[in-house]
Amino acid sequence: MEFRPGLEDVPVVQSAISQIDGQAGLLLYRGYTIDDLVHYSTFLETVYLLIWGELPQSQNLKEFEHDVYTHRRIKFRIRDVMKCFPESGHPMDALQASAAALGLFYSRRVLDNPLYIRQAVVRLVAKIPTMVAAFQLIRKGLDPIRPRDDLSYAANFLYMLSEKEPEPLAARILDACLILHAEHSLNASTFSARVTASTLTDPYAVVASAVGTLAGPLHGGANEDVLDMLDEIGSPDRVEAFLEKQLAQKKRIAGFGHRVYRVKDPRAKILQELAEKLFACYGGDRTYDVARRLEEKVEEHLAGKGVYANVDFYSGLVYRKLGIPTDLFTPIFAIARVAGWLAHWKEQLSANRIFRPSQIYTGVAPRPWRPRQEREMGSE
Ligand code: COA
Repeated sequence: MEFRPGLEDVPVVQSAISQIDGQAGLLLYRGYTIDDLVHYSTFLETVYLLIWGELPQSQNLKEFEHDVYTHRRIKFRIRDVMKCFPESGHPMDALQASAAALGLFYSRRVLDNPLYIRQAVVRLVAKIPTMVAAFQLIRKGLDPIRPRDDLSYAANFLYMLSEKEPEPLAARILDACLILHAEHSLNASTFSARVTASTLTDPYAVVASAVGTLAGPLHGGANEDVLDMLDEIGSPDRVEAFLEKQLAQKKRIAGFGHRVYRVKDPRAKILQELAEKLFACYGGDRTYDVARRLEEKVEEHLAGKGVYANVDFYSGLVYRKLGIPTDLFTPIFAIARVAGWLAHWKEQLSANRIFRPSQIYTGVAPRPWRPRQEREMGSE
């Protein structure tokens, strides 16, 4: 069997959750395009779709929303655990530790019980944003803000960060960003979630392991690099010189290129529209002019290699305009991706076989054990 580093292009699961067409630039969740979901659905409706396979009826959605809204509080013991984290710690590490801590309170592992599965989904979807917001305040020496049951999912998250009720447009745009990041087939964190799920451990451990995987710079986090790069370029007339220097040094341009997409990432297209909506309402960002010029120039140079803007290129600009601190960009990715991770957890349980790939041994041949004295004499 051929060895494929990183399992590139090797199918390791059968999945009915999402579909990507990298040539056509299409991403579908359970058969629906992300464009339709962003325009006509909400994030919680999308979570329901991803986990249970169909868009909900009104009553089902009402019940699911009600359950999520009323489970957003976290136990004071979890807040106390978080208060012991160093304020200099990365919010992704804080999230991984607190997601694992949830398992101490709710772990029962009744994995063949649909009610247990539903409760775990509700708790994780409800509490992960609260934990992200809580750490944001705790690290500033403040007390976490209690979630408000009357606010929508995205509005409540923005409220918990600032204690100000956000404008409906800001909440709607964050909700759309969450839909766009909710699922993307077998990326590294989802694969990690499935491997963990395959041992039949609890869903809190599944999410904690996926958060740890998402935290690496090769996975989440490229949108932070994009903002740094755009700020460093500073103005549209410096784009060309920057690009030429990067390409001459064979350096990659953050926010461009994708293993699967050979055209502009469909999520980048929608995020660009959302950024434009935000700027039209709340005032422009000079960095956006730099971004547009850079995209134009990168296309001139790299379209031949199938390198176009990816999801990370415009998301940082949107989050910054929403007033979100840069190191919360990846935790927001995690808030959204919990939906995909849990959908894969549930799918894995429905036809489970523990992951146990093989390896190609490259170590020494079998050899006899010798007493230390003999080994030392032998080495003189
Ligand atoms: N900037 C410049 N050139 C790039 C590029 C980028 N961002 N992404 C790919 N290329 C070039 C490669 O160097 C390669 O050129 P070559 O054939 O002359 O060697 C060619 O395009 C094909 O690249 P490919 O092998 O298909 O890319 P990949 O699958 O190895 O890498 C990424 C995919 C995402 C890792 C890569 O595009 C990248 O590092 N992008 C920047 C980081 C980023 O935005 N990450 C977030 C992804 S959502």
